[in-house]
Amino acid sequence: MNHPVNAETDHQRLLSQYTEIAALAGALAHEIRNPLSTISLNLELMTEDLSKEENPRDQRVLRKVRIVQRECDRLTQLLEDFMRFARAGEPELERVDLNAEVTEFIEFFRPEAQAARLELSPHLSTDLPGVRLDRDLFRQVLLNLARNAREAMPAGGSLEFLSQRTGERVELALIDNGPGMSKETQAKVCEVFFTTKPNGSGLGLPTVRKIIERHGGTMQIDSEPGRGTRITLSLPAAVELKA
Ligand SMILES: Nc1ncnc2c1ncn2[C@@H]1O[C@H](COP(=O)(O)OP(=O)(O)OP(=O)(O)O)[C@@H](O)[C@H]1O
Ligand SMILES: [Mg+2]
Repeated sequence: MNHPVNAETDHQRLLSQYTEIAALAGALAHEIRNPLSTISLNLELMTEDLSKEENPRDQRVLRKVRIVQRECDRLTQLLEDFMRFARAGEPELERVDLNAEVTEFIEFFRPEAQAARLELSPHLSTDLPGVRLDRDLFRQVLLNLARNAREAMPAGGSLEFLSQRTGERVELALIDNGPGMSKETQAKVCEVFFTTKPNGSGLGLPTVRKIIERHGGTMQIDSEPGRGTRITLSLPAAVELKA
C-alpha cells in the first residue's frame, strides 16, 4: 500500500471524493436557502398580523412564531456562512498594498467597533512589499477576525493591527486583549462548526484559514486564557516587477 503509485491514486481518489462531497454540500445549502426564505417571509407576515391582535391566545401564538423566526434566522446565517466557506476556494488575485486594504477595512469596521467600545489601533510598517490578494476574500478574513475579537470582548477592549515584513513574506497580526482561549478551545477552533457561542456557526476561523492557505499563506493562533489572542497571517510577498 505504501507504493508511491498507489499512494498517488489513493490521493487522487480521496481528492475527487472530497470535491464531489463539497460540491454536493454547497448545492444542498443552496437548495435549502430558497424554501427557508419563503418560510421566513411568511413568519414575518404572521408576526405582523398577530401583533395587531390583543387577545391572549394570539399573543401566545405570536411568542411561538417569534421563536421559530429566530431559529429561521439562525439557519439562514448558518447557510450563508457555509456557502461562503464552500466558495472560499477560488481567489482572484491582484497585486495590492496590504496596508491600504487594512486601512480601508478599519474605516469600514469603525462604526461597529465604536458601538462595541472596541478600540482599533493600526501599527502598519511603511516598507511593505506588495502582496497578491483577492480583495473580497481578504476583507472576509479581516471581518471574521475583527468580529471574533469584538465578540470575545462584550464590554469593549482593544484590537491592534500590526503589519511587518519578515524576509520574503508579509505578516499581519490582529492582537486583542480579550479573555483568550483555553488549550482545549485552541485545539478545535479550526474544525468546521466548532463554536463556544450560542449563535455561532463555527465557520469563521476555518474560512479564514482556508482563504489564507489558498493565497499560499499561513495562519497562526497564539492565545492564553486571560492574556488575549494574537492571530498572525503570513503571506508571500509579490514578485517585484520593477527593478
Ligand atoms: N479573538 C478571540 N478571542 C477569544 N476566543 C476566540 C477568538 N476568536 C475565536 N475564538 C474562539 O474560537 C471559536 C471559533 O471561532 P469561529 O470564528 O471559527 O466561529 P464563531 O465565531 O464561534 O462562529 P462564526 O464566526 O461562524 O459566527 C469561537 O467560538 C471562540 O470560542
Ligand atoms: Mg467567528
